[in-house]
Amino acid sequence: MIENKCEAILEKHYEKKGSIISILQDVQETFGYIPEDAVFWFAERLNIPASNFFGVVTFYAQFYLKPRGKNIITACCGTACHVKGAEPIINRMRADLAIAEGEDTTSDGQFTMEKLACIGACSIAPVVIVNKKVYGSMTPEKVSRMIKEYEKSSPR
Ligand code: FES
Repeated sequence: MIENKCEAILEKHYEKKGSIISILQDVQETFGYIPEDAVFWFAERLNIPASNFFGVVTFYAQFYLKPRGKNIITACCGTACHVKGAEPIINRMRADLAIAEGEDTTSDGQFTMEKLACIGACSIAPVVIVNKKVYGSMTPEKVSRMIKEYEKSSPR
């Protein structure tokens, strides 16, 4: 099945003489992330070392090697947010979502937790972003309530 989808992407790019980046963009759009098997498939078919693909994937923040959750919760870890208590907020998020250390997505695929450097909203630090919506002056309690609200709209 992965082969059929990769074949369709390849056909499109043969015609357009696509670059590694545009192939990877299509792979991510098709699968929601970049499956390693797809990278090896394209590497073999195009006779390009897989390391070239992985080099691009790891360089650009827009590419993901693992499936992402339906909801993306991003905590700012810039200096202002750190000073105003980002760490306890992140710990609460991890505990409430039951995301294991070293993981970033809930086992049911509903939530992915990310950290970012300063997002330029220091005046309302600490900041958390959920699905592109920005929440300022967060506390562990507020983040807990917010997660419950999102869980209601995305039952696990
Ligand atoms: S440090 Fe978090 S918004 Fe600037």
